[in-house]
Amino acid sequence: MAEDYIVKDIALAGYGRKELDIAETEMPGLMALREEYGETKPLTGARITGSLHMTIQTAALIETLVALGADVRWASCNIFSTQDHAAAVIAEGGVPVFAIKGQSLAEHWDYLDRSFQFEDGPNMILDDGGDATLYVLLGARAEAGEDLGVPTSEEEEVIQAQIAKRMEQSPGWFTRTRDAILGVSEETTTGVHRLYDLHKKGQLPFPAINVNDSVTKSKFDNKYGCKESLVDGIRRATDVMMAGKVAVVCGYGDVGKGSAASLAGAGARVKVTEVDPICALQAAMDGFEVVTLEDVVDSADIFITTTGNKDIIRIEHMRAMKDMAIVGNIGHFDNEIQVASLKNHKWTNVKEQVDMIEMPSGNRIILLSEGRLLNLGNATGHPSFVMSASFTNQVLAQIELFTKGDEYRPGVYILPKHLDEKVARLHLGRIGAKLSTLSPEQAAYIGVTPEGPFKPEHYRY
Ligand code: NAI
Repeated sequence: MAEDYIVKDIALAGYGRKELDIAETEMPGLMALREEYGETKPLTGARITGSLHMTIQTAALIETLVALGADVRWASCNIFSTQDHAAAVIAEGGVPVFAIKGQSLAEHWDYLDRSFQFEDGPNMILDDGGDATLYVLLGARAEAGEDLGVPTSEEEEVIQAQIAKRMEQSPGWFTRTRDAILGVSEETTTGVHRLYDLHKKGQLPFPAINVNDSVTKSKFDNKYGCKESLVDGIRRATDVMMAGKVAVVCGYGDVGKGSAASLAGAGARVKVTEVDPICALQAAMDGFEVVTLEDVVDSADIFITTTGNKDIIRIEHMRAMKDMAIVGNIGHFDNEIQVASLKNHKWTNVKEQVDMIEMPSGNRIILLSEGRLLNLGNATGHPSFVMSASFTNQVLAQIELFTKGDEYRPGVYILPKHLDEKVARLHLGRIGAKLSTLSPEQAAYIGVTPEGPFKPEHYRY
C-alpha cells in the first residue's frame, strides 16, 4: 500500500524527534494532560482532522491527541509554515500528515482534502483560520445545488476546483462529513471571526469552541508569542540592523501589541496605525507614536501588518516607500498586503520566502513570505512554551466537544474560566513562579473562592 503521508523527506524524522524532545521540556501543559488523561484516553473514537501550521510545537500537540486516544490526520493551514522535520517525525510515528514547506496552493487544498480521508470519516475538526471548516461547509452547499459564484482570487479558484474534484470522486461526501462532525475547535482570531459570522447567518451546523479567546491563548500566544517571533522572522529573512530603524505596525490588537514590543525590544523606533480609538490610546500610552500610514509611508524602513483585515498596505503605499523598505504581514491571511497588484512588477527572488520587488520609480521593496504570516514563513513561529498554553486549550476543547458535544447546540463557545486558570497554573512551575493563596476571609471579601475562578467573566486582563 502507498504511504499515507506527504512530507518533504521522511529521513528528517530523526532531527524532528530531537527537537520534539526539547520542545516537550518547554510544554508543561501538554505533558500534564498526557499524565492526567493518558490512561482514561477520553479521545478514544475521536477522528480528528487537524489544519494547523505543521511545526515542532504542533507535533507535540498531535502526539498529545494520540496519547489521549484520538486518530489524527493533519495538514498545515499555510503553504509556508511547515517545518519539514516536524512533518517527518509525525509521519514516521504513523500519523498521516500532508504538509511541505513551500507547497503550491493547489497542493495545499489537496492536502487539506487528504487530511479528511479517514476510512470511517472524521468526527472532529481542529482548525486554525477556519479553512478546514470552510472546505466542508462550502462543499456541502455546493452539493445542495448552490452556485458558489465566480472566484475572485486565485485561491478561491483553487478551492472551487478542489471541491468539484471531491464531489466527482465521492458524491455526497461533503454532506456526510458535515453531518458527522461533532464539533470544531478554532485556534485564531481570523478563524473565530469566520465562525461567529457563520453562526450569525445560521450556517454553523455544529458547536465550535473559540480557543483564541481563552485568556491563556490570545493574551499570551498572540502577544508574547509575536513579541519573540516577529523580529526572529525579520532577522532570519533580512539580517537587517533593527536598532535605529523606523518600523510601522499596522493594528494594535493582541498581535500588534506583541509585534510593537518585539520591534521596540530590538531597538527600532516604532509607530502604530489603528482605527479603534481604544487601541490607539493604548499604543500612545505604551509610548508609540500613533500615525496614519500615509504620514510615514515614505520615511519608514519596516512595515508590518497585524490587523486580520484586508487591503492595509496597498499598491499606492508600496510605490511611495523608500528604497529597500521591508514589508511583511503577521496576520493570518495574505490579503493585508495587496501582493496580487505587484504581479506585473520585476521580482527578484533572494532566497526562500524573501523577494525583492522593483517599483516603477526604481525603488525596491523586500517582501517577506509573499505577504503570508512571516513569523511562520521566515522563522519557526512562536516558541514552545507559549504554544503549550495555546495547545493545552486546544486539547481541552477537543475533549469537551468530543465527550459532551451533544450537550451543546450549534454555536460558538469559550472554555470556562476555571479551565483557563488551570492552563495558566500548569505553566507556572516551569518558570519558577509561586502562587499566593487567598485566605477564606480574603476570598469572601472579594467574592470568590480560594480555589478560583478569581475574576468575573467581564474582567479583561
Ligand atoms: P485583534 O482584533 O486583537 O487586533 C487587530 C487590530 O487591528 C484591532 O485593534 C483593529 O482595530 C485593528 N485594525 C483593523 N483594521 C485596521 C486598519 N485598517 N488599520 C489599522 N488597524 C486596523 O486581532 P489579533 O488577535 O491581534 O489578530 C490579528 C491577526 O493575527 C489575525 O488575523 C489573527 O488570526 C492573526 N494571528 C497571527 C499569529 C501569528 O503567529 N502570526 C498569532 C495570533 C493571531
